[in-house]
Amino acid sequence: MIRSTVTGIGSALPKRVMANQDFEHIIDTTDEWIIQRTGIRQRHIANDDETTASLGEEAARKALESAGLEPADIDLIILATSTPNNTFPATAVDIQNRLGMHHGAAFDVQAVCSGFVFALTTADLYIRGGMARRVLVIGAETFSRLLDWEDRTTCVLFGDGAGALVLEAGDGVGLTSDRGVLAAKLRSDGCHKSKLYVDGGPSTTKTVGHLRMQGREVFKHAVGMITDVIEDSFAVAGISADDIDWFVPHQANRRIIEASAKKLGIAEEKVVITVDRHGNTSAASVPLALSVAAADGRIKQGDLILLEAMGGGFTWGAVLLRW
Ligand code: ACO
Repeated sequence: MIRSTVTGIGSALPKRVMANQDFEHIIDTTDEWIIQRTGIRQRHIANDDETTASLGEEAARKALESAGLEPADIDLIILATSTPNNTFPATAVDIQNRLGMHHGAAFDVQAVCSGFVFALTTADLYIRGGMARRVLVIGAETFSRLLDWEDRTTCVLFGDGAGALVLEAGDGVGLTSDRGVLAAKLRSDGCHKSKLYVDGGPSTTKTVGHLRMQGREVFKHAVGMITDVIEDSFAVAGISADDIDWFVPHQANRRIIEASAKKLGIAEEKVVITVDRHGNTSAASVPLALSVAAADGRIKQGDLILLEAMGGGFTWGAVLLRW
């Protein structure tokens, strides 16, 4: 059977680093409050010349290089983002053009912080359905552009960045020992819209708007939703938490990550945490965390990886893959 196998990975971060202390001059907050409630110590913030498309392009080029491929080898680009360069065209098409790619197809997926998990699942279906053989799956965001910099309850939480994977059609025998995507489970429920949303858009206010969040409400739902969908994906794949080599969750809040790992029975040392350096980079957070753990040698070929994310909508999902 066809399996969608990861053959390349790359990431990109804006040059400017903003530490928690930098907020102490702008809003009523402290480094200590931010670390204690979220685990975040710093985040990267894009300058005007750094955009979702430029960060996505840089991550994509690095992923292609690590796969030993050229843009000409790719037949599909799926970009997960909620901060496109323009309302349209899709930023994936912009990235396609920046890569000098004039064949194949490119489109954006919008599922906020769960975007990468949704994009990866979509790419897997394209590959297994025989409609693509090599796909660039990118998560890229400039959430700093959506923030209300006077709202201390949200502006300290987010950062900018991008991560990308090359997914290629490979051979499998249908067992969990196969390399590639083994299971995926996606969910959404729009009744939670008011808990996390952007208060603008082309069809309503004709503006971009700002991110609004009832943090405590999001927190309340997060752990249960994340662990439910992970347990569903375990059931589909026929594996248990003990089999997981690395848990690479969406990086929103250290307390949510640790509570989820504990509830699932995943040991602390198997959890990849980058929220301390990147903040919450929405759809970029999972591929950024993957690229950190792959670059420092933790993730090795053959490891079983659990990815999850939850975000605005709400949307949430999990993917199990063997590296
Ligand atoms: N600095 C100092 N004080 C602050 C700050 C800040 N930056 N922000 C809020 N406070 C204050 C509040 O005003 C409140 O003060 P009050 O008691 O006088 O009213 C107090 O701190 C406690 O506020 P809470 O909101 O109850 O704090 P909580 O412990 O819930 O932490 C947080 C807030 C970090 C936002 C937490 O609720 C959280 O992480 N929620 C989940 C958010 C999340 O993960 N979102 C992303 C998921 S989806 C996605 O990624 C898009």
